[in-house]
Amino acid sequence: MAAPLITLNDGNSVPAVGLGVWQTPPEDTERAVAAALAAGYRHVDTAAAYGNEEQTGRAIRESGLDRSEVFLVTKLWNSEQGYDATLAAFDASVGRLDVDYLDLYLIHWPVPEKNLYVDTFKAFAKLREDGRIRSIGVSNFEPEHLRTVVDETGIVPAVNQIELHPLLPQHELREVHAQLGIATEAWSPLGQGSLLTHPAVTAVAESHGKTAAQALIRWHIQLGNIVIPKSVNPQRIASNFDVFDFELTEQDMASISALEDGTRMGPDPRTFNFTG
Ligand code: A2P
Repeated sequence: MAAPLITLNDGNSVPAVGLGVWQTPPEDTERAVAAALAAGYRHVDTAAAYGNEEQTGRAIRESGLDRSEVFLVTKLWNSEQGYDATLAAFDASVGRLDVDYLDLYLIHWPVPEKNLYVDTFKAFAKLREDGRIRSIGVSNFEPEHLRTVVDETGIVPAVNQIELHPLLPQHELREVHAQLGIATEAWSPLGQGSLLTHPAVTAVAESHGKTAAQALIRWHIQLGNIVIPKSVNPQRIASNFDVFDFELTEQDMASISALEDGTRMGPDPRTFNFTG
């Protein structure tokens, strides 16, 4: 079964479930992406910083699918922010991926102290005008960064990809996204695996005859999130995509949402400035 599509504010659409390859070693990436495409995924999310763009691109090419059938996302790393540096980093990424265009390009982190994310987004807009990118977005942006981009460029990012899972449901950002017309995309949707043994999650999963990962992915889909679970294991990759034949009840949604405790697994986007 195909993943439902989410329509972005620029009219393009993205499959709601994709394969994330953060923390997938380069030597495992081609096999993981190939397994995902064979299982029906048509959306793959990588980044320059993950060191596996080349392997991601190769798996897509060798799948036999037409390039237009796969929604391909990569991200601009912190050290490459700024107008000219962004144009060069884009060329390097599409070179490693060996593709003519990206479906979505994201600014990986705002790095507010550098104050370059607006110039970076202006370069994204230029690349979109030139037909090199279909949709342009951001990642790990807080409300003030989103508003600055919109105010200074007049363009609303199509997507903000953020850490989001039941422990950190990001109410405020989801509200801001709804107001501005930005799609919410969840990274670490399974809490980096930590939520898979939580009794509240396993109870919901068992009541549907599904796995904990499937229950969590459903929780995201039913909230309207784009979701990119990571796995290197072909069986888990396939089962994470087998989520379109059941629905969580309101009670199921509430019992998973009750896990909220504010835990953030990744860095704080307001201060994260790593450029290595
Ligand atoms: P593995 O790659 O060995 O399958 P997140 O997407 O939130 O970052 O979570 C990724 C983590 O969850 C990884 O450790 C991954 O391990 C694990 N994982 C992903 N899918 C499943 C699954 N269906 N069952 C068990 N663990 C999973």
